[in-house]
Amino acid sequence: MTTFGFIGTGHLGSMLIKKFVETGAIEAEEILASNRRAEKVKRLAEAIGIRPVSNRAVAELSDVIFICVRPLEVRDVLSDVAYLLNSQKLVVSVAGDVSLEKLQSFCPARLARAFPSMASEKLQGVTLLVFGDNTTAEDQRLITGLFHALGQTAEVKEKDFAVLADLTSCAPGYFASPMREFVQAAQRRGISPELAERLVKQTLLGTALLLGDESFAGLIKSVATVGGITEAGVLVIEREAPGMFDQLFQATKARHELVRKKIDGQG
Ligand SMILES: NC(=O)c1ccc[n+]([C@@H]2O[C@H](COP(=O)([O-])OP(=O)(O)OC[C@H]3O[C@@H](n4cnc5c(N)ncnc54)[C@H](OP(=O)(O)O)[C@@H]3O)[C@@H](O)[C@H]2O)c1
Repeated sequence: MTTFGFIGTGHLGSMLIKKFVETGAIEAEEILASNRRAEKVKRLAEAIGIRPVSNRAVAELSDVIFICVRPLEVRDVLSDVAYLLNSQKLVVSVAGDVSLEKLQSFCPARLARAFPSMASEKLQGVTLLVFGDNTTAEDQRLITGLFHALGQTAEVKEKDFAVLADLTSCAPGYFASPMREFVQAAQRRGISPELAERLVKQTLLGTALLLGDESFAGLIKSVATVGGITEAGVLVIEREAPGMFDQLFQATKARHELVRKKIDGQG
């Protein structure tokens, strides 16, 4: 039997544990978890039947260890238990901006990076995966299978991770933000925000379903007939949005560079 450990039961760590158990990808009895503030992991344990333990016990007793702390906390967490993380162990880090090379400098375990999205909570997210050279085909099959239970997976090149994380992990925020602007623009035209939000949310859900078997271009073509009303609106978006998305990628790149500099500064 494989034992799975989780260090960090914040937003992402607790979501992963809950969803792996709910989907049957991992049995609750196979999970050990720890968190800096122990009451947090104890609450989770009471709710779903996992075993709350210390970071050391997670590292010592688990075969696969998920590191679910923030990027600047990874070094201390791994360094503390590095003597337990030998090449018999598989460590899967979900921390953005901590490269495989950096992780390997902290511990000698077999390594992978996974970057899920909060959409995985609805079993519809995409998890980006990168596997270290020291992982086995069995490791890759196991981790891909686990995240497949929460939606889709995409094995990607580590150098593309940041841009792809914008498209997957950050994207729920990027989709919600212009929709809120859309609602506020309707409000400026006298529509109640509650009504506008309800209509936009439901239409967004329906649009997502249509996109299950249609490309963006195909859907635009079928809604925006030439010379029609929708086309007038689409032309405005096509004029304004390229600059906005280029700026978005520039802004997130600058933020990633800042975090990486801080991580490098940790030594
Ligand atoms: N949220 C997302 O959508 C998302 C998506 C993809 C990847 N990620 C990655 O997931 C990681 C966690 O993000 P999050 O949103 O879950 O952050 P979070 O809610 O702040 O969770 C981090 C957890 O780590 C715990 N922790 C910190 N230091 C610890 C230590 N030394 N030992 C044990 N536990 C420790 C914290 O405990 P206390 O609260 O008790 O201090 C907290 O519960 C980040 O690296 C992020 O890049 C997040």
